[in-house]
Amino acid sequence: MDLGLTGRVAVVAAASQGLGKAVALALAAEGARLAICARGEEALRSTSAEIGGDAFAEVVDVTVEPQVRGFVARVLERFGRIDICVTNAGGPPAKRFENTSLEDWRSAVDLNFMSTLYFARAVLPHMQERRWGRLITLTSMAVLQPVDGLILSNSARSAVRGLVKSLSNEYAPYNVLVNNVCPGYTATERLKKLDVRVSEIPLGRIATPEEIASAVVFLASERASYITGISIPVDGGWTKAL
Ligand SMILES: NC(=O)c1ccc[n+]([C@@H]2O[C@H](COP(=O)([O-])OP(=O)(O)OC[C@H]3O[C@@H](n4cnc5c(N)ncnc54)[C@H](OP(=O)(O)O)[C@@H]3O)[C@@H](O)[C@H]2O)c1
Repeated sequence: MDLGLTGRVAVVAAASQGLGKAVALALAAEGARLAICARGEEALRSTSAEIGGDAFAEVVDVTVEPQVRGFVARVLERFGRIDICVTNAGGPPAKRFENTSLEDWRSAVDLNFMSTLYFARAVLPHMQERRWGRLITLTSMAVLQPVDGLILSNSARSAVRGLVKSLSNEYAPYNVLVNNVCPGYTATERLKKLDVRVSEIPLGRIATPEEIASAVVFLASERASYITGISIPVDGGWTKAL
């Protein structure tokens, strides 16, 4: 299947390792031109080299709005367009409500909700003008079914789901599609901080980052042209609802 991604310009946030990196590599393998960011320079440079071609990488903290805005502006300067934007960040700590502080809540909202909003604000006007765009948020299966002990993630990421559905309606007239990918337990550094019960996963195993990336690549592609506003689980069947 030709995914129609050759020459498309894709921004992937928080992409020096883990899910973001897998998404960036998968989009590059389909012929897209990549711009990636993260905070740590060394891993970022090494991932950029792995992507190869004319990949652009910049040290950015996605919780700092001027940094996100500046990064997007420099990507536009360099490539002249942005077709695809995949938002991503780290995850908030595993805690129960009684152990959370107000600062924990503010940090979680900054990390998972505000960072998404910053990218949406920066890329959507450009996509709207060009009448083509894909904004894809990477969240978690936690937005479909709360994960025990992850109240910060369950809450902050659910706001992203609401944002995605609302944006999908507002931008559909401009052929800008907005969708949300909800990974289940995936073999990355983040997994070391989570309490995983494989017996709760119908497929009986943890996902590979590439399995999550495949869903993102499909939604970014020309083949997903009639899909917008969805939150798609890629969780081996972990979420139980119909
Ligand atoms: N792995 C799973 O099982 C799983 C399941 C569901 C959801 N998720 C969520 O998916 C996201 C990615 O997870 P992952 O497994 O790929 O984690 P990971 O392996 O820890 O990678 C996180 C990436 O995000 C970057 N990053 C973190 N905070 C950032 C910030 N403020 N600004 C810019 N870049 C930042 C990191 O680089 P720097 O630290 O250098 O900035 C790194 O490249 C997280 O939100 C995670 O909670 C993961």
